[in-house]
Amino acid sequence: MAKIEVELATIPEGKNVILKWRGKPVFIRHRTQDEIQEARQTPWKTLRDPQRDEDRTKKPEWLVMLGVCTHLGCVPIGEAGDFGGWFCPCHGSHYDISGRIRKGPAPTNLEVPVHDFDEVNNLLVI
Ligand code: FES
Repeated sequence: MAKIEVELATIPEGKNVILKWRGKPVFIRHRTQDEIQEARQTPWKTLRDPQRDEDRTKKPEWLVMLGVCTHLGCVPIGEAGDFGGWFCPCHGSHYDISGRIRKGPAPTNLEVPVHDFDEVNNLLVI
């Protein structure tokens, strides 16, 4: 089984890292306190794909998602778009700092893969 382990200490706050997992990009963002607050204060019930930020993250500072636009599969660009998250240049989908679709044609949020953290603060994506 493909499995990746990431040393989280190597990712500074406010930075994105892109890894490859099972042939797909995985985005990891070390979110700032402001970003966490913004993600959690968003009125999620009104979103196209309503999801609480709390249900998308196991630890609020670590956002882990497949980097595959849910419209037609392009790779969105980080730190871009109208909602402070990701922007897909193929047809203009905007995702927020929780990876939730906010504008454009994508039908659903960026997918969060099953993942976990171990006791030495490595991230395991399984
Ligand atoms: Fe991302 Fe179409 S593939 S907006």
